[in-house]
Amino acid sequence: MIDRINLIKTEVDSNQITSSEGLEQFRIKYLSKKGLLSQLFEDFKQVPNEHKKQLGQQVNVLKQYVTNLYESYKTQLDFTSTKESGQDFSMPAEPIKLGSRHPISIIRREMYDIFSRIGFTVAEGPEIEDDWHVFSGLNFPEEHPARDMQDTFFISKGPDILLRTHTSSVQVRVMENNQPPIRQIFPGRVFRNEAISARSHCIFHQVEGLYIDTNVSFADLKQTLLYFSKELFGPKTEIRLRPSFFPFTEPSAEMDVSCTICGGKGCTVCKYTGYLEILGCGMIDPAVLEASNIDSTKYTGFAFGMGIERIAMLKYQVKDIRYFFENDIRFLSQFK
Ligand code: DAH
Repeated sequence: MIDRINLIKTEVDSNQITSSEGLEQFRIKYLSKKGLLSQLFEDFKQVPNEHKKQLGQQVNVLKQYVTNLYESYKTQLDFTSTKESGQDFSMPAEPIKLGSRHPISIIRREMYDIFSRIGFTVAEGPEIEDDWHVFSGLNFPEEHPARDMQDTFFISKGPDILLRTHTSSVQVRVMENNQPPIRQIFPGRVFRNEAISARSHCIFHQVEGLYIDTNVSFADLKQTLLYFSKELFGPKTEIRLRPSFFPFTEPSAEMDVSCTICGGKGCTVCKYTGYLEILGCGMIDPAVLEASNIDSTKYTGFAFGMGIERIAMLKYQVKDIRYFFENDIRFLSQFK
C-alpha cells in the first residue's frame, strides 16, 4: 500500500496540466468516485488494524495533496482563460486621480484653525447686501469714494442693493443681532469693480475678525495679530503696525509682516523694505457700535480684515492673482 501511495504521488507530480480537458481527466483519474484515491480508501479497509493508524494518515495526506493540486490548477486555468477572453482581471486597477484642495480653501481652513485655538468662531453673511451693511452702518460718509460706481457693483439704485465690497458688512449683521462678548471671524467672497490684472481681481476672498467685550484694548489686537502671523507664517515672523485710516475704526492701522521670502533682509518681493502689508485693523469706532445698538460706554472692540488671495500669494509665492480663478489643473494640483 505504501508503494501505491508513493506511486500516485510521483505520478501526480509529473503531470503537466495546460487545458481544462486535461484537468477534467485528472479529476476523473484521481478524485472521482471510481478514481484512484477512492480505490485506495476502499482497499484501506482491508489493512490489518495494527497498520491502520500510520497508513490512514498517509492516505489522508495524499488526498489533501491531490485536492490542493487540483484546486491550484483550476485557479491557474481560470486566470489564463480570462486573459484569452481579452479581460485580465488580475491587472492592477487604473489609479483614481485624487483631487486637491484649492489653495484659497487651504489658507482659509488654516485661518479657522488658528483663530479657533483662541476662541474665535466662524460666521457668514450674504454676498448681496444693502448700503447700510456695507457702508452706512460702518460710518462711511455719504460722499465716500468707495461707494462710487468705479468700485462697487450695484444691482439696483435707490434703495441701493449691491455686491459687498468687503466682509466688514458681516460685522454689522452680527452686531445687530448679538450682544457682546462677540469673538468671531467672517470669511467670504467680495466684489469690486476693478480692472483684472496680476495684482487685482474683481472677485476675491476676505477674512474679517471681530472681538467686542468689556476692556478690549489695542494691546489685545496687537497680541492677537502677532499670534496669528507667527502661526501662519512661522515663529520667526515679526509684525509692524502703521497708522492708517478706515471709517469704521479709530485708531486704525495697517499691518505688515516681516517678508516671508527674505525674513526681513530685503528682496525683490518686499521691494527691499523687509516687510509685506497683509491687513487693515483698528479699534471699532464708538459710532459704529452705537449704530448697531451696542453700548459704547460699556464695550470696546477691535476688528481686522485681510485678503486671502494676497496671503496665499505671499505664502506660496504665486506671482499672479489670476491663477486662483483659472482652474488650471497644473496650478491647482501643486497644493495638497
Ligand atoms: N474692510 C477693509 C477692506 O476691505 C479691511 C479692513 C480694515 C477691515 C480695517 C477691518 C478693519 O475690520 O478694521 O479693505
